[in-house]
Amino acid sequence: MNNFQDYLAEYQQSISDPEKFWASQADNFVWKKKWDSVLQWDFHKPEVKWFIGGKLNITENCIDRHLPQRANQTAILWESNDPKEPSRNITYQQLHEQVCKVGNMLKAQGVKKGDRVCIYMPMVPETSFAILGCARIGAVHSVVFAGFSAGSLADRINDSGCKVVLTSDGTFRGDKSINLKAIVDEALDKSPTVEKCIVLERTKAKISMKPARDLWWHDEMQKVNNQCPAEEMDAEDLLFILYTSGSTGKPKGMVHTCGGYMVYTDYTFKQVFQYKEGQVYWCTADVGWITGHSYILYGPLSNGATSLMFEGVPSWPDMGRFWHVIEKHKVNIFYTAPTAIRSLEKAPLSFVEKYDLSSLQILGTVGEPINEEAWHWYDHNIGKGKCPIVDTWWQTETGGVMISPLAGITKTKPSFATLPMPGVQPAVMDESGNEMMGNGIEGRLTIKFPWPSIARTIYGDHQRFKDTYFSTFPGKYFTGDGCKRDEEGYYRITGRVDDIIIVSGHNMGTAEVESAIDEHSAVCESAVVGFPHDIKGQGIYAFVVTYDPIHEENHLRNEIKDVVAKIIGPIAKPDKIQFVSGLPKTRSGKIMRRILRKVAEGDTSNLGDTTTLLDPAVVEEIKAGAL
Ligand code: WT7
Repeated sequence: MNNFQDYLAEYQQSISDPEKFWASQADNFVWKKKWDSVLQWDFHKPEVKWFIGGKLNITENCIDRHLPQRANQTAILWESNDPKEPSRNITYQQLHEQVCKVGNMLKAQGVKKGDRVCIYMPMVPETSFAILGCARIGAVHSVVFAGFSAGSLADRINDSGCKVVLTSDGTFRGDKSINLKAIVDEALDKSPTVEKCIVLERTKAKISMKPARDLWWHDEMQKVNNQCPAEEMDAEDLLFILYTSGSTGKPKGMVHTCGGYMVYTDYTFKQVFQYKEGQVYWCTADVGWITGHSYILYGPLSNGATSLMFEGVPSWPDMGRFWHVIEKHKVNIFYTAPTAIRSLEKAPLSFVEKYDLSSLQILGTVGEPINEEAWHWYDHNIGKGKCPIVDTWWQTETGGVMISPLAGITKTKPSFATLPMPGVQPAVMDESGNEMMGNGIEGRLTIKFPWPSIARTIYGDHQRFKDTYFSTFPGKYFTGDGCKRDEEGYYRITGRVDDIIIVSGHNMGTAEVESAIDEHSAVCESAVVGFPHDIKGQGIYAFVVTYDPIHEENHLRNEIKDVVAKIIGPIAKPDKIQFVSGLPKTRSGKIMRRILRKVAEGDTSNLGDTTTLLDPAVVEEIKAGAL
């Protein structure tokens, strides 16, 4: 697509004959066997299958097919946490060798097609080899972000019954180093399915290796050769599981399959960023999130791009690090999170002005709504007013970008994700479940037709998949987000309508955080809501009821934060903790979060109807003690 007319035409084609449209996209890949039929679906069951009967291996499409033209082109350009450590260029040829070797290393440990492998590793090239090495042999990767605690890691390992864990001695983050292996050791005490743990040396931290179970990456990689046939996968075989928070209970292992995911991430990468041969592309997400899976690895590599992988943080050694990296590697396309933009915006502009950002052509954002002010700062100071900004709306569950401008093609509008990608059919619903037609409306965002990379199920719990996504509006996929569709037909995502808080772009279930807080022995119960936060977008505000009167409030606050960091990870620590004598509950015992949300937002002028509360007096106390 080269202009807006093309987009309109392509969108129309994709809607009037989706099967023909996606089949013609799928024709651009290497298939070991062509599909028999394109699509089978029923959102009531729910069931979705794409490219039925097709056989492929995604790594052949991300690596092997590029070798004739680009064996010596950089596939992964790695920038260390430490600006003084040399960067690394992994060519497509080298990527091929390393991925094959990881495949063989896993096979040597008895890993077979369909087995689950957990990857708990830092942002180093070996982590991409690990992910793609799994895909090479048909093992299902389950990457767990290396900021999660031992308990969260164990839950994820156990839920999918991983056989092998790949990790490292440690990870660097700014001036800190974290001993990942110690966290894995603690998790593995509770994970009976894990037979082997392979450890990459990164920080040279002192760690303990358990005989028979633990192996060094460098030892095992030495024992294997660099040729590994790509396993033949059915289009609907599992490619990976990736956990995301649910509004209740334990995290959900979202299942993505090989064929549809490959086609959709390739197509969306190409179209959204209008990627051109030879460009250097940088997505700052961690590979432990869906953004990293789809747009550090699979989408860019499938397009033969050079994808920059950054180990560090935006604020170290100083607030100019991102801009330094852009200058150093002449980055053309830069894709980051609104939370990062807001935090960098707070630093003096001299951190930006020091660097030559003239290589930049396209900017992107992902993970949460971007406020207008941050959008303008990004546009003006980073893009110098000449780079289109693509505000990409999507989810772990959708696998790829769903609503977004196409860079340079779609007219942008600050804080609007604008228009659906070809193949995506949004429907905005009112609260009684009717589709709202026309423009200038606001409601709940659903998608009424399948796209190739929709998650197929929640690992081990299809009923929960149905309940969460297909029951609120029967026959439609419910995103959990609210949205507006303005007069122009542009979409603006207004945020979650369920009990999920998006903190710095990370999806956090209130129930999960509450149950972690409740683990503190002094805590009787708690309720957690989001509140607007300058930098993180949303912060976590916890209302906590203790068993006994408290003497040292701040001491207890710190202890509670530590408990949450220990159980879930530091990203889930509440920003504010208010101690209360009780929570506002209905007679049926349901916490009225609506009221708590208002208090947390600092707007208590109109709390709405409180007459159904068991004890209305508690609301006055909560209002008076608001932080
Ligand atoms: C939720 C999904 C998409 C990968 C990273 C997050 C919010 C995401 C946007 C955006 C407004 C956004 C939504 C969505 N979100 N992108 N451009 N504008 N909101 O994936 O952890 O699965 O979270 O992030 O609320 O439902 P995730």
